[in-house]
Amino acid sequence: MTLKVAVLASGRGSNLEALLRQIDAGRVDARVGLVLTDKPGAACLDKARAAGVPALVELPRETGESAAAYDARLIEVLRAERPDLIVLAGFMRILGTAFCEAFAGRIINIHPALLPSFKGAHGVRDTLAAGARVAGCTTHFVTADLDGGPIILQAAVPILRDDTMESLAARVLALEHQILPRTVDLIARGQVRTAADGVVVEAGSSWFDADVRPLPGALYPDGF
Ligand code: GRF
Repeated sequence: MTLKVAVLASGRGSNLEALLRQIDAGRVDARVGLVLTDKPGAACLDKARAAGVPALVELPRETGESAAAYDARLIEVLRAERPDLIVLAGFMRILGTAFCEAFAGRIINIHPALLPSFKGAHGVRDTLAAGARVAGCTTHFVTADLDGGPIILQAAVPILRDDTMESLAARVLALEHQILPRTVDLIARGQVRTAADGVVVEAGSSWFDADVRPLPGALYPDGF
C-alpha cells in the first residue's frame, strides 16, 4: 500500500525535493499528501507546489504562544491529514512529548551527523569542530528524546584535510538526499521494524541497483 506521507520543513526543502524526485521516479512507494512549514514563505513550499503536493500549510508560531499550544495545533492539522508517516526534513522546531506520543513510531527525522554523536542544530559544524575524521547523516524515529530515537539508516563520508563547513555540509547533504528517500521506501515496504534493542532493517535489495549512484568515497549500510 502506497505510504501517505506528511513532510514538515522550515527552510530550503532540498530533502523534501529529493524525496519528491525519487517518488516521481517510482523508486519510493509513497506519496506526499501535505507539506507543512512553520516559516511562511519558506522555499520548501515552492518545491512542494512545483511537485503538485495537494496540501501546503503555513503554521507559524504566534507571538507569545507556548510550545505546547503550538504542538497542539500541529497535532490537530496532522490528525485531520491522517498520514502513515511524518517526515521531519529540516523542521527546526523541537517537538514535545504530546506530539511524539500522538504519532509514536510514525515520525522520522533526517539529521546531518552520525548519531548518537553531534545531536542538535549544528551537526556538521560540531563534527568538524570536534576534529572527527568521518562525517555523515542519520535517519531515525523521533521520540521525545531529542535526536535520540532509534536509528534507521546512516551513511558516512571521510572528512578531507582541506574541508570547510561548506564543502563538508555539501557532501553530507548529498548523502542525506539518498538515505532519506531510501528510508521512506524501506518503511513503505514494511522492511523497517522496531525491536526492543533498536531498529531492524530488512533491506531486500540494494538501491544502487535502481539507478541511484553511490557517492564516491562514501560508506553505506549493508543493503542500502
Ligand atoms: C538538513 O541538513 C537536515 O539534515 C537538517 O536540516 C537541513 C535541512 O535542509 N535537519 P533542507 O531544507 O532539506 O535543504
